[in-house]
Amino acid sequence: MKPRPKHARVINTGLDQITILFVLFLILPSVWCYSIHLDAENELLSARKSLPLDTSELGRPLRIIEEMKYSKRQGNGPSAVISVSQPASCPSVNASAKTTETTGPNGSLFFLTCGISDTDQYNGGWSPPTIRFDQLVVNADFSSVQAVSSSVFRPCAPFYDIFRNASADIGVPSVLLAAFAMQESGCNPYATGAGGSAGLLQLSPDKCTNSNCYDPWANIYIGARYLKSLLDADPNIVQAVGNWNGWYKGMTFANVRSALDWNCYAQQNLDYLQQYFNGWLQDIDAYGRLEDGGRLGFFFNLDECDSGGSSGSSRNTPIPWTVYLYGLLLFLL
Ligand SMILES: *[C@@H]1O[C@H](CO)[C@@H](O)[C@H](O)[C@H]1NC(C)=O
Ligand SMILES: *[C@@H]1O[C@H](CO)[C@@H](O)[C@H](O)[C@H]1NC(C)=O
Repeated sequence: MKPRPKHARVINTGLDQITILFVLFLILPSVWCYSIHLDAENELLSARKSLPLDTSELGRPLRIIEEMKYSKRQGNGPSAVISVSQPASCPSVNASAKTTETTGPNGSLFFLTCGISDTDQYNGGWSPPTIRFDQLVVNADFSSVQAVSSSVFRPCAPFYDIFRNASADIGVPSVLLAAFAMQESGCNPYATGAGGSAGLLQLSPDKCTNSNCYDPWANIYIGARYLKSLLDADPNIVQAVGNWNGWYKGMTFANVRSALDWNCYAQQNLDYLQQYFNGWLQDIDAYGRLEDGGRLGFFFNLDECDSGGSSGSSRNTPIPWTVYLYGLLLFLL
């Protein structure tokens, strides 16, 4: 019989010290760093935490349903001009019939982002002008699947029935839902964003605890109920659209930029409103080039995160200092 191999080996004190060093200088700081990272993620999630979804909404009279009529093309392009209430301190509406980098039929980017300034980063804060849905100029046509198929919304065509059904069942305009889907995921049901936002409408994980948000049907219905809850709380469509991207009243430029320290993608997109109202709703690809070669927006604050579009994972998270320490330890050992 062969002697059993010796497993036990006397661990010498040198190895012991290395183990202690390893635990003290690598494992513990890693755990610490990771918990900070988790805290930051949670902060993001709670910042984005929506109003609770109330399924009893479903049975209520559909206050907004009449306004769905506006989701079809209105005449020959934008001609209507309405008076909107605006805080005295806001820049003028400065709407233009044609969409440009910083304006369009629904007012200028500076009007929509009233209170946010890159030159006066800590002052003011977002003071959303008040526009109801029926005051908006909408040139995107969501009246038939054929219309959708020949528009910038064509990636949404496979989900046309779901958008229409959710719109009719819940009472929010289908074109608004589809515009979110284009802005958030390019109508890609498998998209996953920073903070785990999921699917067509990039719903935050707190909205997906009971449903699979990668399922287009679940995604669109949950999103429709969320939009309904926002508009019921305040019919100001500018505020609701901002909320979708994590904007809140009083949000300053500095607030937005604070996310740079830990997750570049956690920044709100400061061009979101321009892209949504004067891009998608006008049947213009908000991420494409205008005729003059320009892009919709002014701040472009997400450009530095990645070359990608609106969704993606955080790539700009700083390298934890434990990684450097690990290298140093390897070098010393
Ligand atoms: C509004 O438009 C006019 C003319 O295009 C321009 O001179 C003015 O600076 C604009 N105002 C704002 C607040 O952008
Ligand atoms: C939409 O609603 C219609 C009529 O109720 C129904 O026949 C259809 O199956 C629904 N489609 C989807 C995708 O839910």
